[in-house]
Amino acid sequence: METKVAIIKNVNEDIKYINEASEIIKEGGIVAFPTETVYGLGANALDTEAVKKIFKAKGRPQDNPLIVHVSSKDIKSIVEEVPEVANKLIEKFWPGPLTIILRKKNVIPDVTSAGLDTIGVRMPSSSIALKLIELSQVPIAAPSANISGRPSPTEVERCIEDLSGKIDYILGGEKSDVGVESTIVDCTVNPPLILRPGGITLEMLREIHPGINIDEAIKGKPDENLKPKAPGMKYRHYAPKATLKIIKGNNEKTIEKINEIVHNYIENYKKVAILTTNENIKSFNAGKIISLGSEKNLEEIARNLFEALRECDDLGVDIILCRSFEEENVGVAIMNRLNKAAGFDIIEV
Ligand code: TXA
Ligand code: MG
Repeated sequence: METKVAIIKNVNEDIKYINEASEIIKEGGIVAFPTETVYGLGANALDTEAVKKIFKAKGRPQDNPLIVHVSSKDIKSIVEEVPEVANKLIEKFWPGPLTIILRKKNVIPDVTSAGLDTIGVRMPSSSIALKLIELSQVPIAAPSANISGRPSPTEVERCIEDLSGKIDYILGGEKSDVGVESTIVDCTVNPPLILRPGGITLEMLREIHPGINIDEAIKGKPDENLKPKAPGMKYRHYAPKATLKIIKGNNEKTIEKINEIVHNYIENYKKVAILTTNENIKSFNAGKIISLGSEKNLEEIARNLFEALRECDDLGVDIILCRSFEEENVGVAIMNRLNKAAGFDIIEV
């Protein structure tokens, strides 16, 4: 299949490409497009055959439901009811990186919800994404636009790398600003429960509704016997090709440990990358050293995380060593992605 690529510099001036892409959505095709979290791979959420194409292109397990993207806060046509607390969250955080799980209406086919009677709904803030949904005149089901299991794309080049030849159209635009996928809050339970941490943090959500909790399963290694509440959370995810190890502890000891391990690997002819922060970049003297940003700015670390993992693969390293981050605010989302990418290979110092 030939994949058309169009890069949008300005939504108004380049509207013809967004129009073209929306025609593809209407005709049952699939389109990659930017959002403020990560790039998405979209299809008409109401069209079973179109949605099936997403699963095929990504190699995505059938039991992993898709998030439905909308361009307005009025979602009555796709969900049964919007509880009071969900309304408050929508008012405060939409458009933006927050997905809300609600009971679905029958117009949403089983393939989109993977057979569940609920769906995740999100109104993205990216102007390209909003325009695409609006012009398509249908809700757009979209997982991240990567081959299943790989780090999610935050730049159009990564969508091209993973999906060129497998999908109809790639709309490129700005780099994703948040860099990790949306926060998912289940509003079908009381109090609402965070199923996946993201850019909208527990702390921010609790300002709106103090009772909101975070699913404890998020922080630990998945229990094989427990059915995860967000089906996607059970799969190995975000994984670079290299082996990723997390070094957890205080700053000084972490640096010491990383230096020790790097030298061991290098003596054994392995190529190593170190993911660190601006503040610590001078503490290492071997291996490929990549900064994720300032440790004082967790948003910056989140924004750069997936791209850094992919960069390590481009460098062809065997091992990636990454320090851990404080699990508060966006740090919860960062550590959730890192832990999964590492398959919970954590060295405590
Ligand atoms: O930021 C995002 O949310 C991005 C962009 C493209 O919008 N999308 C995204 O989709 O991350 P995906 O498919 O990579 O992740 C969707 C997650 C999966 O873990 C899935 O299991 C969960 O959402 N999910 C979807 N519908 C659900 C439902 N009804 N109940 C529980 N979890 C659900
Ligand atoms: Mg994904």
